[in-house]
Amino acid sequence: MAVDEGEALARHVRALNVPGPVLEIGSWCGRSSVYLGQAARDEGRMVFALDHHRGSEEHQLGEGYHDPALYDGDIGRVDTLGAFRRTLHDAGLDHTVVALVGPSEPIGRVWQTPLSLLFIDGGHAMATALGDYRAWAGHVVPGGVLAIHDVFPDPKDGGRPPYEIWKLAVASGLFETIERVNTLEFLRRV
Ligand SMILES: C[S@@+](CC[C@H](N)C(=O)[O-])C[C@H]1O[C@@H](n2cnc3c(N)ncnc32)[C@H](O)[C@@H]1O
Repeated sequence: MAVDEGEALARHVRALNVPGPVLEIGSWCGRSSVYLGQAARDEGRMVFALDHHRGSEEHQLGEGYHDPALYDGDIGRVDTLGAFRRTLHDAGLDHTVVALVGPSEPIGRVWQTPLSLLFIDGGHAMATALGDYRAWAGHVVPGGVLAIHDVFPDPKDGGRPPYEIWKLAVASGLFETIERVNTLEFLRRV
């Protein structure tokens, strides 16, 4: 999450004029959660930060973005929940940002609360990104915002799945594009 992207997320939270909490898919250690949370706190909104805290493909042992400090050797799994909680505590956001710890798609299928803003930055495998989009995009209220991170129209720049779900959102007729900041696409639910 680059600074310009985080600031854009915060700006869109401040500009919301529809009811409902904000929800992010993919929190890692809380960087984007803090941008969303600081703006939400000022606006009297709540943020749900959803992550299974087991890391994405690139975070696993032996992969490029693996961090040994975020690995529970006893069970052989990545564990970012402690680091995430520390980030939120240090930012004074314990009462604004609520952790949802678990897999995105099944939670999205039973979720009931309409969302003012949905930020998708979870797993970048095709099945995961598609699952996130299909389970969650319909929860955004008309007038609300869908933000998708790591959207690379040119395959030379990065992986396809976030771009593919962005295309699905545009083609659905349910969303209109409003802004692109760096790799972060913003759409409004019509
Ligand atoms: C790129 S990181 C998120 C980065 C974060 N938004 C930030 O700004 O620092 C992706 C996160 O998605 C989580 N994730 C991947 N697939 C998931 C799934 N199916 N359900 C829940 N979380 C998932 C991983 O655990 C990882 O923490």
